[in-house]
Amino acid sequence: MAANRDPQPSPLPGFIRDSGLFLRQAVQTFRATGAVTPSGTALANSLARYVTRREDPNSPVTILEAGPGTGPVSRAVAARMRPGDTFDMVEPNPVFVEHLTGLVKHDPVFVPVADRVTIHQALVTDLGTDRRFDVIISGLPFANFTADEVRTIMEYYFTVLRPGGHLSFFGYLYTKQVKAVIAPLDDYLRQVQSGWEVQKWVNRYAVDREHVYRNLPPAWIHHLRKPLD
Ligand SMILES: C[S@@+](CC[C@H](N)C(=O)[O-])C[C@H]1O[C@@H](n2cnc3c(N)ncnc32)[C@H](O)[C@@H]1O
Repeated sequence: MAANRDPQPSPLPGFIRDSGLFLRQAVQTFRATGAVTPSGTALANSLARYVTRREDPNSPVTILEAGPGTGPVSRAVAARMRPGDTFDMVEPNPVFVEHLTGLVKHDPVFVPVADRVTIHQALVTDLGTDRRFDVIISGLPFANFTADEVRTIMEYYFTVLRPGGHLSFFGYLYTKQVKAVIAPLDDYLRQVQSGWEVQKWVNRYAVDREHVYRNLPPAWIHHLRKPLD
């Protein structure tokens, strides 16, 4: 379902407003939100790297972002879009969708590209398989998911990713070590298993890995590429 509401801009400075909104959603839906603060600028810029680094600099690209939340990575994407590029964002949380709708309409970074941006209120795997994307950026909290859920989502990404296209996704450093100390055993074991599933895809398709320490909390990013054949 594409969102069509038209919220007005908030008078609060963007970072404070977005952090407050994000924290409220994290408290209500921690499993799906998976963090307590939105991604910082350094992490957002690194996640958006393949919007800039394209195989053919003269061809437009199709971009998918799963789990944009309050939109810090989406803004980095929008700032890098070139003529003809299209950008689909998929977010199930209606509060975030309403916020993103306002961002696309009023944020100066989005205004020039707004007619090529679509927000879908859905789970990413419900978007269908009839489209193909050159760049997929995933903000999904895999550490909160089961191994089966991670497999389903990664299979979906590699179905809709065009050969030669890139998938970038992130997680937080040291969460497994922290969970080993503070989390119930079954939750720790679930995260170990979902981590193994992530690692299988990384082993198969990774082209680069980054650590972003200038983020709260510090994060890792994996960049994967779908082979041409
Ligand atoms: C860790 S937050 C990331 C938000 C934002 N990308 C950022 O970096 O600040 C995870 C986001 O994924 C969304 N999400 C969770 N499960 C999802 C799914 N199956 N499909 C799409 N989005 C999902 C959540 O609602 C939340 O907005």
